[in-house]
Amino acid sequence: MNKITAPEIRARKGKAKIRMVTAYDYPMAKIASRAGADIILVGDSVANVVLGYDDTLSVDMDVMVHHTAAVTRAEPDALVVGDMPWMSFHVSPEDTVRNAARFIREGGAAAVKIEGGRKRLDVVAAVLAAEIPVMGHLGLTPQSVNAMGGYRVQGKKVQAAYEMISDAHALADAGVFAIVLEGVPDRVAQIVTAEVQIPTIGIGAGSGCDGQVLVMHDVLGLGGGDHLPKFVRPYADLAGDAVDALERFFADVESGAFPSEDETYHMPDESFEILRDLVESETTVDR
Ligand code: KIV
Repeated sequence: MNKITAPEIRARKGKAKIRMVTAYDYPMAKIASRAGADIILVGDSVANVVLGYDDTLSVDMDVMVHHTAAVTRAEPDALVVGDMPWMSFHVSPEDTVRNAARFIREGGAAAVKIEGGRKRLDVVAAVLAAEIPVMGHLGLTPQSVNAMGGYRVQGKKVQAAYEMISDAHALADAGVFAIVLEGVPDRVAQIVTAEVQIPTIGIGAGSGCDGQVLVMHDVLGLGGGDHLPKFVRPYADLAGDAVDALERFFADVESGAFPSEDETYHMPDESFEILRDLVESETTVDR
């Protein structure tokens, strides 16, 4: 198959639902690709789900580029989008373009995602002017956790919802190829989806978006934490399966059932006898 491009994703609007998932390393990218992902997001959620931080604010460009390069080495057909971390696009348009370019040049990604609406238009425009496709992200933007006062559904009140629709228009007019809508009431997400000519990809935004995205570890039941957000549907319990597999391995180690003959390397009998004689004669001489 050919690599999926940002213009192809944009052209999917109204035609086929977009399937997006996060991945942060080589094996996960292989799995996402085999399953038919259209977009792999190397999300800054790597901070929570892989690195064990409480929020996404702790990861920087070096961490994100490192994980993006691991994902692209899997050579997925999916469009790989690098998630610009907190403080990588807040200083200046020049700084933002340099950081976005690292995702492309060092990480091998073909697009970047930037959280925020009209407040970020200058940096979004600068990255687009550098010929790097940009995905927007509105609603519950986790990098704003301190400013929002926690992780809360956004756009529940009329004014806030209206602002979000205006942000979506501004991003679409600037030229982003898609917008992630996170933690948004379903009818607000539906209005945004109807208002813009580019695809919306929902996470906790109801079924009316043009596509859906979830964090890979949540879908597979690989998360370490007990609490899953309301919008997550785990399709497997890989953490449970992994614990079960390791328990069986350890039990076989204890009982001696592992390794078996088939899992063991052997020296030819003749060589072994020569070696044994040699060791025994040297032992005798030494004493
Ligand atoms: O970092 C991430 O995983 C994300 C998705 C939740 C959209 O931004």
